[in-house]
Amino acid sequence: MHLEPLHDDLGATVSGITLSGDLTETEVESIRSIIDQYSVVHFPGQEMTDDKQLALTRLFGEPEAEHVAFGSTGTVNYFGTVGNVKDDGSTADNTNARYQSGNQLWHSDSSFRETPSYLSILHAYEVPEQGGDTEFASMRSGYARLGANMRRTIDPLFVIHDYVFSRSPIAPVNPNHAASLPPVVHPIVRTNPSNQQKNLYIGSHARSIVGMNGMESRKILDDLLEHTTKHTHVTRHAWRPGDTVIWDNRCVLHRGTGYDATRWRRRLRQTRVVGNEAGIIPCVPS
Ligand code: OGA
Ligand code: MN
Repeated sequence: MHLEPLHDDLGATVSGITLSGDLTETEVESIRSIIDQYSVVHFPGQEMTDDKQLALTRLFGEPEAEHVAFGSTGTVNYFGTVGNVKDDGSTADNTNARYQSGNQLWHSDSSFRETPSYLSILHAYEVPEQGGDTEFASMRSGYARLGANMRRTIDPLFVIHDYVFSRSPIAPVNPNHAASLPPVVHPIVRTNPSNQQKNLYIGSHARSIVGMNGMESRKILDDLLEHTTKHTHVTRHAWRPGDTVIWDNRCVLHRGTGYDATRWRRRLRQTRVVGNEAGIIPCVPS
């Protein structure tokens, strides 16, 4: 394996390894530790299939059921299609593009679930000639760049994450889907259990801070997001077909940058690995 760092804060390109379900335990452990250190790992030139991707996903933990299909209809499906190409190869209608435009807000995948995602694994099959990049920012470096006083102030805080709050202004959320995702509470600061590095845990699904009024809470969350995603701290991935990117949702924010969906085809397939962090409490008693 050959590793090339991409940015001081996060990101590495790794070559010399073929991703599949056949990786050895040692290879999986090295990838895990590269993820712990670099947070976003780009593997170019992969010959991926859905079967390989799901087997790869299982090497890192439990695959996450895609929440839209699961919440709306109860169907367990481990893949999400990112972009505007439907399963039959035709391009999707506007509704889907509108729904996906929510991904253009900085977020951490599934932060609105009781147990959020550990990893997202995204493989590119078709990409636009213009646009459609994905940006990443490190919530670890965001935390490290705060002053000591601010760190002390926020360390004990908890945040309510709520999918209906973040997404209903963008596109209607199916009522069953909405009911399947009650608001949840997560600590605003998380610690990586392998290297003890602390990071913020915020993003578009972060609705408010427990115990604060709305205005006070929004001010802190908005300021922290702005601070974390200053453009000098952002790395942008320009997709090429055959790219697989794995990112650590525990400590990374990402967003799509948009593209002309009437002009270009974009098709990526995503799986996620369920996290196993403690300290996560449901907001609404169940
Ligand atoms: C995602 C995501 C943004 C994009 O795949 O989880 O948010 O379209 N993608 O690049
Ligand atoms: Mn996402």
